[in-house]
Amino acid sequence: MKKGREVLHKAAQTYGTPVYVYEQQVIEAQCQKLWRHFPNVAIHYAMKANSNPEILRIIRKQGIGAEAVSLGELALAKHAGFKAKDTSFTCASLTERELASAASSGARIHLDSLTQIETWGRKALGREVSLRLNQGIGAGHHAHVITGGPHSKFGITLEDIPEALRITDTYGLRVVGIQQHIGSNVLDATVFLKSVRVLLQTAKRFPNLTHIDFGGGLGISYAPEESQLDLKRVGKEFKILTSAFKESMGRDVSFAMEPGRFIVAESGSLLVSVVDQKKTNKHQFVGVNSGFNQLIRHAMYGSYHPIENLSRTRGPKTPITIAGNVCESGDLFAVDRMMIRPELDDVLVIRNAGAYGFSMASNFNMHALPREVLVSGAGRLKDISFVPSEYAL
Ligand SMILES: Cc1ncc(COP(=O)(O)O)c(C=O)c1O
Repeated sequence: MKKGREVLHKAAQTYGTPVYVYEQQVIEAQCQKLWRHFPNVAIHYAMKANSNPEILRIIRKQGIGAEAVSLGELALAKHAGFKAKDTSFTCASLTERELASAASSGARIHLDSLTQIETWGRKALGREVSLRLNQGIGAGHHAHVITGGPHSKFGITLEDIPEALRITDTYGLRVVGIQQHIGSNVLDATVFLKSVRVLLQTAKRFPNLTHIDFGGGLGISYAPEESQLDLKRVGKEFKILTSAFKESMGRDVSFAMEPGRFIVAESGSLLVSVVDQKKTNKHQFVGVNSGFNQLIRHAMYGSYHPIENLSRTRGPKTPITIAGNVCESGDLFAVDRMMIRPELDDVLVIRNAGAYGFSMASNFNMHALPREVLVSGAGRLKDISFVPSEYAL
């Protein structure tokens, strides 16, 4: 499926580096995998993973909705053609104006706190509400992305459900939906399924439910030794659990999920060029023309990305530390990675960079954002570069 080196060479030659290259076929294949394993679930793509409008359109055409976390994302989802009825929204620390504006968009809003429920009721933003819950179950590749449990700022805790119901009663609101998201890059099927089981249990506390959203978090393996998420098992057990739930309720309830990374991570590579070399008595540094302002995952989470040399395939392997051009010593893409020693002007491919790559990029140090290029199914290249600030609200 992956286009391999030839098309990446062409992208580097045509557009220069640094450049993000995304493969449309990989995105489509991931969407189809989700449909295969979760056939009766509404999939809402968590667009924070990669919000390039062209990528959003590809995903929408696969029959997938959008999940947004800001007014800017809601505006962009609309621009990319997602209908409000296929869009969901959840966000902590919202202003009243933001909450009212999100409510008026027509998207399904999952309220994140007692304060948001109170605001919703007081401002009469609608008769029906959906609640984001924190059931005490969290998982993910790094503490910063674990969104369930006592250290997480997200959601309404189980202990606060009676108070949430008191507020909804006061304003005559019906709780028709609940949602959770336990964290990002979950590779353990057992933990994910446990969170599903517990949410279905919690659902019985809400007599008017029509909708349950299990969030995102489906992981991909970045490092060679990481085992893959057993999606087949998750899909199979998910179906058993949700079917049993519906039967016990004696009526129809719809289910949703919000994967982001799973859909786009493996489609994307960041191509960078070697511009410098330096040796200390600890590391052999190779400097490249990109930095954590363009791909922050290693600097922020210590994340592993496979890195290949596009210009050189032969030579002894040696530990190499790949450093960026940002003015901070934590600006590294890999530390002591065994690889063929790159030379000046070599192009390196940082793989699995399609999620939380460009979407977390910034102009830190006043560096430009990288270009973005799409490889179509037929292998054609298209510049799909995007200026996110045009949508930020
Ligand atoms: C509420 C919510 N849903 C879905 C996601 C998507 O997570 P992932 O990209 O790991 O699937 C996130 C990620 O932060 C999130 O906060």
